[in-house]
Amino acid sequence: MQKGRRFLTENRSNPTVEEPVLPKERETVMTAKASVFAQVFPVPARDHWSTQGLRPRSITLSVAPMLDWTDRHCRAFLRLVCPSCVLYTEMLTTSAILRGRDPHRYLAFSPMEQPVILQLGGDDPNAMAQAARIARDYGYSGLNLNVGCPSARVQKGRFGACLMREPTLVREILDALASSGLPVSVKHRLGLDREESYRGLARFVETVAQGQCQHFIVHARNAWLQGLNPAANREIPPLRWEWVQQLKKDFPILRIELNGGLRSVEDVLQVREGVDGVMLGRAAYHSPLLLGSLERTLGYRSSEPNVEEIWNGLLGYAETWGERLPAPRLTRHLHGLYYGHPGAKTWRRLLGTVRPEESARSALIRLRKELLAWQVADAGFLAP
Ligand SMILES: Cc1cc2nc3c(=O)[nH]c(=O)nc-3n(C[C@H](O)[C@H](O)[C@H](O)COP(=O)(O)O)c2cc1C
Repeated sequence: MQKGRRFLTENRSNPTVEEPVLPKERETVMTAKASVFAQVFPVPARDHWSTQGLRPRSITLSVAPMLDWTDRHCRAFLRLVCPSCVLYTEMLTTSAILRGRDPHRYLAFSPMEQPVILQLGGDDPNAMAQAARIARDYGYSGLNLNVGCPSARVQKGRFGACLMREPTLVREILDALASSGLPVSVKHRLGLDREESYRGLARFVETVAQGQCQHFIVHARNAWLQGLNPAANREIPPLRWEWVQQLKKDFPILRIELNGGLRSVEDVLQVREGVDGVMLGRAAYHSPLLLGSLERTLGYRSSEPNVEEIWNGLLGYAETWGERLPAPRLTRHLHGLYYGHPGAKTWRRLLGTVRPEESARSALIRLRKELLAWQVADAGFLAP
């Protein structure tokens, strides 16, 4: 988690109710689709590209759960950029779901985000089972348990990364989640503190896999519980991608996905052979078009992402909210849209003009006009 940020607990309150307006029949079709996704996960259900005669998908591409970043509006945007990837929510604690003031605010999502996985934090199997049933009724495609967050607050709650010390409890929690009937996965680290042991990691996976969970997403570095904040914990402990690849060799029937430090197409090509999936966090958020390039490299689409189509999708999404979505809730996630492309600086400057009292719909219409005017002056700019 980011320094100074709080995870989504029952204490975080914001009375605004966020609901987009979907035409009734569209809502029904999308909900039906969502349940199909749930049945076929962990292979992403958006088989759009492979049905067009392209190479069948080999590994899963997903965007990591990121607190305060991968909220529903961010996920809706990422879905437009990357139709085939699996999206994860921010971590939500069981207490936020069961005793929070406004759990709906954090649980609600748009059907277009599917397949979307809810990430949960907590240490009580009974509470997990209850939260899982609620999540199932919301239509999530799967559930993921957080065994990677090292923040002091999470440690105080005895969950997150410190659960690496209790593989049997992790198994019980995952079994409780699986009692909902949804597919379950766990996102964990290599180990804790300075103790670097592949055997310890393998023992953790072996113990957990004796239960229902057969899907492991490994952030390929240790979590240091003392002396490092969460941001430093994503940089300083050494990355060991080869340990995750070794896990796949040692447990070939398990689904093993790799996360941590993947920043480019080259990084993904380097690790893809040894794993079932790759999960990108910061790189996906800061340069979302990279996801589209990855889809292409992995054979899920035939062309680079089309910025004009993304813009049309964004306008359509904002339209479903009418005037009720304050612009910054959506536009704060769009800073990376032109990352690495001509116009990136102009775009960020334009985003700086967005006002809280504007609706997302009005702001996007205005920004697009200004971009088009700018594009006339600069032919290298990607069409908005
Ligand atoms: C702002 C931020 C918030 C995060 N919040 C979560 C979280 O809620 N749950 C979780 O499992 N990991 C969380 N993470 C860790 C990421 O999911 C990921 O494991 C980590 O960033 C390493 O991947 P990357 O190098 O591709 O960014 C967060 C990371 C960032 C940058």
